Amino acid sequence: MMADLALGNFAGLPLAQQAGGSFWFPPQASDVAAGVDFTYDLILWLCIIFFVLICGATLYFMVKYRKRPGHKEEVTSTHNTKLELAWSIIPLILLMVVFGVSTYWYLRIVTPPSGEVVEVEVTAKQWNWTFTYRGDGLPAGKNYMVVGELHLVRDQAYQMVMTTPQNDVIHSMFIPAFRVKQDCVPGRYNKLWFRAIKAPQDDGAEYYDLYCTEYCGNDHSLMLAKVFVHENKAEWAAAVIEAADISRLDPVDRGKSIFDQNCKSCHTVNGDPSTGPSWKGMWGREEVMEDGTKVTVDENYVRESVLQPAAKIVKGYPNAMTPFTWGDQTDVAIEGIVAYMKTLKD
Ligand code: CUA
Repeated sequence: MMADLALGNFAGLPLAQQAGGSFWFPPQASDVAAGVDFTYDLILWLCIIFFVLICGATLYFMVKYRKRPGHKEEVTSTHNTKLELAWSIIPLILLMVVFGVSTYWYLRIVTPPSGEVVEVEVTAKQWNWTFTYRGDGLPAGKNYMVVGELHLVRDQAYQMVMTTPQNDVIHSMFIPAFRVKQDCVPGRYNKLWFRAIKAPQDDGAEYYDLYCTEYCGNDHSLMLAKVFVHENKAEWAAAVIEAADISRLDPVDRGKSIFDQNCKSCHTVNGDPSTGPSWKGMWGREEVMEDGTKVTVDENYVRESVLQPAAKIVKGYPNAMTPFTWGDQTDVAIEGIVAYMKTLKD
């Protein structure tokens, strides 16, 4: 419980998610986690031991050789070969040990294992994580896009192929339980592999936390995702198919969830203008475009603005939006957006 409190408060995360961890760390859920913790502890204890030794010796000598009546000042010795060799060689050996251990684990972290590695596409943007799954037990020829949920199979190695849209900013994926993190950079692909050897349910938790660890704007702290570890491929595929199917949601809920994940960085629902017009009261309104023409906000206008945002720009707003698609469920997504927008009519 102490561990839960300490870590939960420190990371600002739900306390239950730290189940299975130690006082300092979340659970060691990947096959590199124990090595990373060992390296950390090794360096930490070397620092503690030398800190205590050096500070202790300094204090001791300060007191022992302090200036006081009856004691004469001695000339400081300028050279002591044995002492100098000792304080050079011992730290050198210790540093080589630190170098060796950290290099070994660093190489383990950056080198994907031989054998089957399943790829998952990751798109990081302000402010959510999208995971795209395909193949590997899923019906062929389809992409399964899931926002905010990373689904894995226990003991299977995964490679994240990560990017960020061209007009976005740098993000960084961090899964504390796996002890791995990697930046997501606009316009390039970065890779990160890991293998879950433990599952959150082992410790009575539902999921591990994944969060953005690169400050990326207003909602950086809300840029979270859940990591689920399934026992086998069949369970995993069923979970991915269910999570990716947004049509199972009621249209208004679907639209609200799409808004929260994709739109709210530029649109509000309270009437305040942001990068784009507020959705409040927008449905059915007549908007004046940049070129002076007037357009009524209806299904056709919303659909066009979602798929080709640059086609009609509302006067006073920048041409800043990127086209929005949702894999092969784009129509279902637009239906949701329209349904949600109608509820904001006033
Ligand atoms: Cu994305 Cu911080």
